[in-house]
Amino acid sequence: MERKMGPAADPMHVDRKMLYTSLEERIKYLHHFLDFNSADIEALLTGNKYIKQLIPAVVNLVYKKLLQYDITSRAFHTRTTADEKEPEEEYLHEETPKIQRRKMFLRWYLTRLCQDPTTMDFWRYLNKVGGQARMSPLNIEYIHLGACLGYIQDIWIEAMLSHPHLSLRRKIALVRAVNKILWIQNDLFARYHSSDGDEFADEMSEFNYTEDQEGYLGDKRILGSSSGSSTEDDRSSISSGVAPSIDSAAPSTKSKVSACPFADMGKNSSTETKIWAN
Ligand code: HEM
Repeated sequence: MERKMGPAADPMHVDRKMLYTSLEERIKYLHHFLDFNSADIEALLTGNKYIKQLIPAVVNLVYKKLLQYDITSRAFHTRTTADEKEPEEEYLHEETPKIQRRKMFLRWYLTRLCQDPTTMDFWRYLNKVGGQARMSPLNIEYIHLGACLGYIQDIWIEAMLSHPHLSLRRKIALVRAVNKILWIQNDLFARYHSSDGDEFADEMSEFNYTEDQEGYLGDKRILGSSSGSSTEDDRSSISSGVAPSIDSAAPSTKSKVSACPFADMGKNSSTETKIWAN
């Protein structure tokens, strides 16, 4: 039987050049495409306690992994994965002070991911991290960055799905929300390792960040801040129904936050894939 189709709606216009010259437009498009919506924000704000609990384990596993291969381990001597010369000193191991320090930076990064995604500063920070990996004198090739994000995602999915007390509904919401953020981070890594859009290179002012913007290297304020109310797990609170207001969940950096095109995001309607519904 032939399927009846309604009249085709006009496709939404996406300005290609803006994707390369405006970080805001790029993020807006990714949000729309990935359907990053109010349900994701609610899941992140109410569930960030679970994300934070996992940070120390994720950091240890990631560094174990990065030190497991000479090509990635060497980068902590040479700051590049493109040079295959053996380092003059011995390979680093997890307990060396240098690696302990690096672990701290990764902890800051992951803590930062638990903050309010409705501020533009949140996405600017992800963009800075993305650009940093290729900026001299740090040259981490994309294959390792993508693999590393995939590894973090795998740890995350396994940990969330096996949580002993969270309801399946909340597990799904949290896995989906973090997944979308990791994929946007992935784009913001890939973006700096691809020649796509190179014809707009001269106009990429939005993507070029200056030193005086908010600290990239783990702004210490994030360590003390807690973003929003973290609800109890599902033994004591099944109802995560109401997201904290954006204001109450805002990080302490709020006064520096510029007008954010995503501030209304919490009001967007959410969708479920309902992929198993039929
Ligand atoms: C999920 C992927 C990754 C994230 C989110 C990430 C995050 C970061 C951040 C936030 C910094 C800045 C820390 C700072 O210097 O203040 C950093 C630096 C660095 N990252 Fe990564 N990184 C990732 C993957 C990798 C991989 C795969 C390698 C190695 C192959 C690597 C090697 C380095 C090195 C060598 C530095 C500079 C270290 C130094 O200054 O001594 N990173 N990374």
